[in-house]
Amino acid sequence: MALRLSSVLALASLFTSTIADWEPIQEYNWYKDYYPSSEDYCFNGCYTTADYVTFNVTPAGGADDYYLNLCSNDLKIKSIFYCAQKYCTYEEAVAGRNQMSPSCEGNAGFPLPTVDSMRISQEELDQVPVINSTTGLATAPPEGVAINTPIVPDQEWLDLSIRTVKEFYVNWDVSFDFAFALIGFWGLVLLIGIVHRATVFFGKAPGSGEASWWLWTRKNLILPATFGKHQAEAVAWTYTVPPRLESIILFAYVIMNFVMCFPAYNLFVGNQYYAANKLQLARYIADRTGFLSIAQLPMVWVFAARNDPFMWLTGWSFATYNRFHRWIARISVVHAVVHSIAYTVFEFIEYGDASGYNLSWTAEYWYCGAIATIIMSLMLVFSGYYFREKFYDLFLIVHIGMSIIFFVTLWYHVKIFGGEFNYFLYPCIAIWSIDRLLRIGRTVFISVMPRFTKGVKATATYHRTTEMVRLDIADFMPEKKIVPGLYYYLYMPAGLRGYESHPFTLCSWRRSGSNAASPTHSINDKEVETSVRPVSSEYSSGETAHTMLVRPYAGMTARLQRKLLSTHTTVTSTQETIFLEGPYGEPLDLSGYSDILVICGGSGITAAISHTHFLLSANSTTKIHIAWAVPQRHLPDDICANELASAIHSERVNMTVYLTSAAEEEAHDPAKLPAHPPYEIRFGRPDVEGVVRGCRAGARGSLAVVTCGTPQMSDVCRRAVVKVLGEEGVEVGWFNETMVW
Ligand SMILES: Cc1cc2nc3c(=O)[nH]c(=O)nc-3n(C[C@H](O)[C@H](O)[C@H](O)COP(=O)(O)OP(=O)(O)OC[C@H]3O[C@@H](n4cnc5c(N)ncnc54)[C@H](O)[C@@H]3O)c2cc1C
Ligand SMILES: *[C@@H]1O[C@H](CO)[C@@H](O)[C@H](O)[C@H]1NC(C)=O
Repeated sequence: MALRLSSVLALASLFTSTIADWEPIQEYNWYKDYYPSSEDYCFNGCYTTADYVTFNVTPAGGADDYYLNLCSNDLKIKSIFYCAQKYCTYEEAVAGRNQMSPSCEGNAGFPLPTVDSMRISQEELDQVPVINSTTGLATAPPEGVAINTPIVPDQEWLDLSIRTVKEFYVNWDVSFDFAFALIGFWGLVLLIGIVHRATVFFGKAPGSGEASWWLWTRKNLILPATFGKHQAEAVAWTYTVPPRLESIILFAYVIMNFVMCFPAYNLFVGNQYYAANKLQLARYIADRTGFLSIAQLPMVWVFAARNDPFMWLTGWSFATYNRFHRWIARISVVHAVVHSIAYTVFEFIEYGDASGYNLSWTAEYWYCGAIATIIMSLMLVFSGYYFREKFYDLFLIVHIGMSIIFFVTLWYHVKIFGGEFNYFLYPCIAIWSIDRLLRIGRTVFISVMPRFTKGVKATATYHRTTEMVRLDIADFMPEKKIVPGLYYYLYMPAGLRGYESHPFTLCSWRRSGSNAASPTHSINDKEVETSVRPVSSEYSSGETAHTMLVRPYAGMTARLQRKLLSTHTTVTSTQETIFLEGPYGEPLDLSGYSDILVICGGSGITAAISHTHFLLSANSTTKIHIAWAVPQRHLPDDICANELASAIHSERVNMTVYLTSAAEEEAHDPAKLPAHPPYEIRFGRPDVEGVVRGCRAGARGSLAVVTCGTPQMSDVCRRAVVKVLGEEGVEVGWFNETMVW
């Protein structure tokens, strides 16, 4: 669904003139049967006049059986057909009859008569009384006298009725156009993303020079934070601001949504549905924002799924998709709130007091819609950064629970339209089900199936001095390749809260042939060699190991830590039953760069480990520089004795460790430092800009900067890269693997 020309014109014309007379176009075939299109307006106008006249007929059904009473009202039906014969073309009469007939068939059990069977001679038609709207409306009870014969409206009354019908459904046409334009917008964004990825994929290798316009675009649009310094780190504890290009896309989208609330409302005196102009306006705004709100939902779901074909195709991160998810959802909430307010105003103006409004609350569509709006608004409040950060698992379960209630109430809200709006809901159901099925499938595939064959468990180790839980999951992974950039969701099914899952980076490394026997060296056997040696044949013959390094926080990770701490030794290790779901994330092959710099903090070292081993085993000459900020003094030695043991001495790898906070104070006593560490030690936080600049100066062809650390660190790196990009030097690519979203 491309951006429709008519929608573009609608936007454009808003700035030139208001649209005086919108030509109705109703092109979406699957909606055709749901509401009248232009050739049906004449017949529908006839029906509108006849519907205001009270005929002397005993109703066939109760007060609620609207269609049964209408379709079986012989005088009214005759009046409609005679009117059509008098004023409409034959084609219009047939089209209008065919459009209305299903309502009778579906709700009263029988169709409308055909146009031909209702045809009368010209003499007979001339005998049918012609009445004006004053007379017609005056037949209403209690004072009015019901009419005993069929009637036809005069030309003026019919014209007003046709115009009424037309303006009402023109708003629907335009609203559908806009709804699809919104979907088209994201279709276009994703398409550009996919095309861009394809050109990068088939394009030239890094280092062969960049076009200056592309460099400018990267420096000014793609890489920087929107304003100032903050992107990943929350502003005032409430919201994070997306990076600049994403902000531009989202800003354009917000503008588009705002503008779409206004065009094509043609108010006029004599509207048969709603006499007052303000009543018409309230109704049209309510309808329009209702469309615009529900049209967002497929995107809200598309950008929320863990398993998302578009994510695979565009290569954009879950974090990007998550930001789109949040912003589109917020826009949907705003539309829904306006929709609800406008309908409330409408009801008050229409009835002049609260009576009609109070009555509305007994209707299913009304209270379901109200619940849906309230739930959405609550979801918006409770998904603020503060709640996600403080109570992630609670947030998630409440979020999912509320979205189910929202979805069901919305379903009943639009049920009165007989399926017309379900086309916006089906994609959500499809995406949700496929995502859940894939999640279960992936978990079963890698976590449950091996149990029947091997009965594997992960070995969990906790070391008090490193404050890090190491999960040895080598047995799980059938895959022996090293692929940087992947992560898995970890479940601990044994506990009460076994449904909780958290993402952890897969850290893949190569055991060197000789120490393959002892998977977890203790850091106490500090026999770290200092000699530099090239990647040996021993390295390539070693087997691949997989671990996860988990930094305990307050939730699931803290429970794992407590479990491990219950025994009273410094190093504790148990067998844990875990489930893994994945892999997720985009494999990141940086072997095209001559140099890579991994800037990481704490457990972010996992990214550096996978990249290092991948590049060492790949047939490349890429040099790896690691700048690692650690608050635990013993962690670097531990990592060098395990995951990095076979790689740290390679001449292609060098690591600088920045001891921060507690580690810094502890280590200022030289006696407490390792004797000959295979890395350089510095104190305090790294000067990221300086590190990047230094690394770039020494780079041989091109430099990839990989960030994996706290949000603050990611922001600092983002700025440093943007700053350095404008300066003379080799090409720089930035890859952000920050562990939050
Ligand atoms: C792609 C990715 C890879 C990661 N890799 C690692 C890793 O290799 N090692 C490691 O120690 N940590 C990693 N993390 C972070 C890790 O997922 C969180 O620290 C963990 O979820 C905290 O669990 P908890 O129950 O103790 O959380 P809590 O104590 O409840 O929260 C601690 C912090 O983690 C955040 N958090 C909690 N759950 C999630 C979640 N599902 N997604 C994003 N943030 C969350 C919270 O907002 C809070 O800031 C990674 C995160 C992501 C997104
Ligand atoms: C409507 O018709 C009635 C009866 O024919 C007539 O008295 C009245 O003036 C008409 N009203 C208008 C507004 O034409």
